[in-house]
Amino acid sequence: MKRMTAEIPQETIQAEQESMARVREMDGRPASYFIVTYGCQMNVHDSESLEGMLQQMGLTGAADRTCADFVIFNTCCVRDNAERRALGNVTWLKELKKTNPQLRVAVCGCMIQEPGMAEQILRTYPFVDLAFGTHNLYHFPTLFEQMLIRQRRVIEVVPDDLGSVPEDLPIVRSNPYQAYITIMYGCNNFCSYCIVPSVRGRERSRESSRILAEAEALRRDGVREIMLLGQNVNSYGLDREDGMRFPQLLEAIDKVGIERIRFMTSHPKDLSTDLMDVMAAGSHICPQLHLPVQHGNNRILKSMNRRYTREQYLEKVAMLRERIPNISLSTDVIVAYPGETEAEFEDTCSLVEQVRYDSAFTFIYSPRTGTPAAIMPDQIDPETASRRIQQLIAIQKQITAENFAKYVGQVHHVLVDAPSRRDPSQMSGKNEYNITVNFDGSPDMIGQILPIRITEAKETTLKGTLVEDSHD
Ligand code: SAH
Ligand code: SF4
Ligand code: F3S
Repeated sequence: MKRMTAEIPQETIQAEQESMARVREMDGRPASYFIVTYGCQMNVHDSESLEGMLQQMGLTGAADRTCADFVIFNTCCVRDNAERRALGNVTWLKELKKTNPQLRVAVCGCMIQEPGMAEQILRTYPFVDLAFGTHNLYHFPTLFEQMLIRQRRVIEVVPDDLGSVPEDLPIVRSNPYQAYITIMYGCNNFCSYCIVPSVRGRERSRESSRILAEAEALRRDGVREIMLLGQNVNSYGLDREDGMRFPQLLEAIDKVGIERIRFMTSHPKDLSTDLMDVMAAGSHICPQLHLPVQHGNNRILKSMNRRYTREQYLEKVAMLRERIPNISLSTDVIVAYPGETEAEFEDTCSLVEQVRYDSAFTFIYSPRTGTPAAIMPDQIDPETASRRIQQLIAIQKQITAENFAKYVGQVHHVLVDAPSRRDPSQMSGKNEYNITVNFDGSPDMIGQILPIRITEAKETTLKGTLVEDSHD
């Protein structure tokens, strides 16, 4: 039976709000928090909600984790190294708890949704006070209150989502000019290497009117760029009966009038010509697309359950470039998938050379328990995997350099974000192609979209100078 998406009932959200009010008044509750976030934009955005709830409960943000009364780790489990990094840092807090017995520690996010993981964490790390999964995020105030009242450890994991989406949670946005909007939760694709569908649940789309109202409110607040989030935004709306699909939603959001719109992630199999047309015709949609290919060989793509061929992917790239000639493409690629032969790996290299992405995120395949690929024969040895990824990185580096060289001399529009990390006399921001551009400027430019003439291409960023006689 097809499950339809519904919102979390208003009474439940009301109960969470009451819980937040009680914690706020509680004697001896933690006064400050620190959130450590791993993983993708979904997690970054979830952490913004956690922050909103913590602030509503009266806690204030601490400068770093050593001086906070409450530390929460929002974890990722997409690859083994993401998981190890999170656990390594949790262990480190054990020492801190010796010097500050009042310290409370929580672990949440995708790792906790792995079967048995919450119990394992509580067993291995006796100093962890609270663990909850991704489907319980909206329930955090109640769990936090229970932890404080009962003075004992709290754990809550819902094995699967209940087909519901939370609305009206408090949120603290980390940037006043750029914002994330979740348009859908979960993933139905079950790529054979990927753990995300089992830790994030099935696809659930938010109601389009809610999304549009949020975009409208952000515009009124002065937000100039939004990123629409979903594991597979192209299947937005398929679980709802109210009609809007992603191309229509994007078209409607374009009319709201926020200067820049981006979205991720697009699954190539669902990238329709309708969507390409909306992107081409839109007034505010950035000429940029993250279109993960994962592999360049058809046998491997089939085994990965990606449901497109190399030829179909290349055709979509060609159609995109026909409509939006200056589009900047980026991708995700996995090397050393089980059984990958040298010739199959070379197919990935040739695809990358053919598409000529502006950037590529390259990953060594990491077996994830419970996924079909983890028990496939012919897992690739680490030396071969490492050699292949190095080879691919070198190819992409060369292509990035050549693509970036072509940007020199052009005028790009940069949403100024912050002083550059390397040189504080320089300002840094993203251009329409989502590439970081640094230029001589001052902090009063933060939040403006400025024309910058590109003067130099660096390895992963661009340098430029402000075009003086212009207006924002
Ligand atoms: N929903 C997005 C990506 C989610 S995960 C999409 O479909 O594109 C982000 C990236 O992590 C994936 O694109 C993939 O390249 C990589 N990834 C996922 N599982 C992996 C695994 N088991 N080993 C290595 N890389 C993996
Ligand atoms: Fe994972 Fe595939 Fe879903 Fe992306 S589309 S989250 S890679 S299962
Ligand atoms: Fe990681 Fe969860 Fe995102 S597993 S990549 S944080 S959806």
